[in-house]
Amino acid sequence: MKKDEEMRTALITGAGRREGLGFEIARQLGAEGFHVILSARRLEQVEPLAAELVAQGVKASALKVDLLDHASLAAAAQQVEAQFGTLDVLVNNAAMMVGSPNVADKDMDELLLEFQTNVVGTWSVTQQFLPLIVAGGNGRIVNVSSGSGAFWDPDYGLVNYPGFEMERFGAPISAYALTKTAVNGLTIKMAKELKSDNILVNAVCPGVTATRPGSEEWGARPVADGAKGVVWAATLPDDGPTGLFFRDGKQLPW
Ligand SMILES: NC(=O)c1ccc[n+]([C@@H]2O[C@H](COP(=O)([O-])OP(=O)(O)OC[C@H]3O[C@@H](n4cnc5c(N)ncnc54)[C@H](OP(=O)(O)O)[C@@H]3O)[C@@H](O)[C@H]2O)c1
Repeated sequence: MKKDEEMRTALITGAGRREGLGFEIARQLGAEGFHVILSARRLEQVEPLAAELVAQGVKASALKVDLLDHASLAAAAQQVEAQFGTLDVLVNNAAMMVGSPNVADKDMDELLLEFQTNVVGTWSVTQQFLPLIVAGGNGRIVNVSSGSGAFWDPDYGLVNYPGFEMERFGAPISAYALTKTAVNGLTIKMAKELKSDNILVNAVCPGVTATRPGSEEWGARPVADGAKGVVWAATLPDDGPTGLFFRDGKQLPW
């Protein structure tokens, strides 16, 4: 690390829901000693959550980061640069799923929104914060993905249907899954491009995680468990893997 442990910084996107993975990832990284920057599309979503962590002795702050508002991303990066100079960890956690998951009746505007958020947004946030990550000297980027976007995930990958989603939705989740296929591909490309800057980039599936009411009923696990594998990838040692896909610290097939 190029600076003392006290100064390590981590930015988490989509951290504005108390029940969501983003807040729990922030909490766990905060417990590891990072100054965690909780971001959401509206500041009011993250301010109380950051204050809650500060009250628990964690170094935390709130930032507006809307994946669909590219101008605001540049302003957000400038704010982080002014306050911290560099960024050590970027967790691209924010994503969305809207409307029908099916090929037959998918609304094309909703499909575009999903790709604009999950793929273009992830790319855009990374691009805007990249100079700060490069300046940090040994950055980590974690793209929170899903086994549903992998071809060969044994549980619910593209090829291995029917899986739990078949039981739950009656059809594969096509649109969202394909955004995560693109995120996985983007992870490989980012890892290759950023290797010479000592940045490790990996995709992580948190597993089926209980971030929505009732999801435990169909087997979703506690949020703390889902977040752990993301935090593992965010805190890899300098000789750790890059350009790979993991769940719970174990490599998954693409
Ligand atoms: N939960 C699971 O079982 C599971 C499984 C596999 C992968 N994942 C992945 O894990 C990550 C977190 O999921 P989650 O279950 O914790 O869901 P979540 O609570 O809905 O988290 C996603 C967050 O992304 C935010 N977001 C959406 N559009 C945004 C935008 N334009 N700009 C900034 N933030 C935006 C949402 O903010 P708003 O509150 O403002 O909408 C939300 O807080 C996602 O990448 C998801 O695909 C989850």
